[in-house]
Amino acid sequence: MSPCESRTIWWDDGLWLIDQTKLPGKLEPIRMESVRQLVEAIQSLRVRGAPALGAAGAYGIALAAEKSFTSNAYDMISELELAAEMIKGARPTAINLSWGVERALKAATSQANIDDIRETALREAEEMAEEDIRINKAIGKNGARLLDDGDSVLTHCNAGRLACVGWGTALGVVRSAVAVGKRIHVYASETRPLHQGSRLTAWELAQDGIPVTLICDSMSGSLMRKGKIDKIIVGADRITRDVVFNKIGTYNHAVLAKHHKIPFYVAAPLSTFDRINAEEDIVVEERDPEEICTLAGMRLAPQGIAVYNPAFDATPLELITGLITEKGVFRPPLMPTL
Ligand code: MRU
Repeated sequence: MSPCESRTIWWDDGLWLIDQTKLPGKLEPIRMESVRQLVEAIQSLRVRGAPALGAAGAYGIALAAEKSFTSNAYDMISELELAAEMIKGARPTAINLSWGVERALKAATSQANIDDIRETALREAEEMAEEDIRINKAIGKNGARLLDDGDSVLTHCNAGRLACVGWGTALGVVRSAVAVGKRIHVYASETRPLHQGSRLTAWELAQDGIPVTLICDSMSGSLMRKGKIDKIIVGADRITRDVVFNKIGTYNHAVLAKHHKIPFYVAAPLSTFDRINAEEDIVVEERDPEEICTLAGMRLAPQGIAVYNPAFDATPLELITGLITEKGVFRPPLMPTL
């Protein structure tokens, strides 16, 4: 099996990741030759999804150490600190990116010679990548109990194996339920403007033979009203004490779910929880207007039109039925202790 089929990001004599901008057309690995290239890959969503960004951040420190030419440990540590700032600054909203960078940086900079710094950075990144899959399987097991045989589940964006190192969070719950014999059908909302739902979620579920129906983002309300959706499960980019940040459009589904009395779950590892900040402290990434105004080079809107293109929205905790984590399911206002 090629690494692409089991992992989104991996180390094989260098840093590799699946180039998600090529999906669903091509499952293509791309090698990262520099920290600058990794930053570009994060910003252009070649690698994306909170847990995958955590791993990318940690591997980024290993990459910086590998590419360093210095023979002096102090200089290498300064280079790693600089790389850490560049990587953390690539995307501001998902907490996992800075969490992954800082964890690998802390491990690497506890070493006193360059070989140990290199080795420790890579070992920490590899451990975090393995841990991600283990944690997602635990999330899956805890969440699978919430799904009944025959359920139709709505999900938004991609919180699947492509958003993680493997298995997935929201889609990990679906996978775990299917693995214990439950028949689950998924509605994937396409997720304008970058179509992570249609390009990635629909693709990875179809690959696994899990029944999936693609809808436009605006169709979820009508489906809920018709009684076609039993549960909603999404991922998260950051969970503060008051809200869940996730892909733009999540809030719309959550409000509709409340109105229709449909359980709305968020599946995320503890590394996505932010115990320090509240909604108002967080920068929501605003992306290039062209993502809305063009599609595969075709113009969809008048040149120069005003555009609002935030990547994420915030869903208040009171709209959430349960937070599915590796430590169990927490019903807000109850939160896991970190
Ligand atoms: O902009 P993206 O594609 O990185 O956004 C991803 C999401 O919003 C996911 O739902 C979130 O990161 C959870 S992934 C398990």
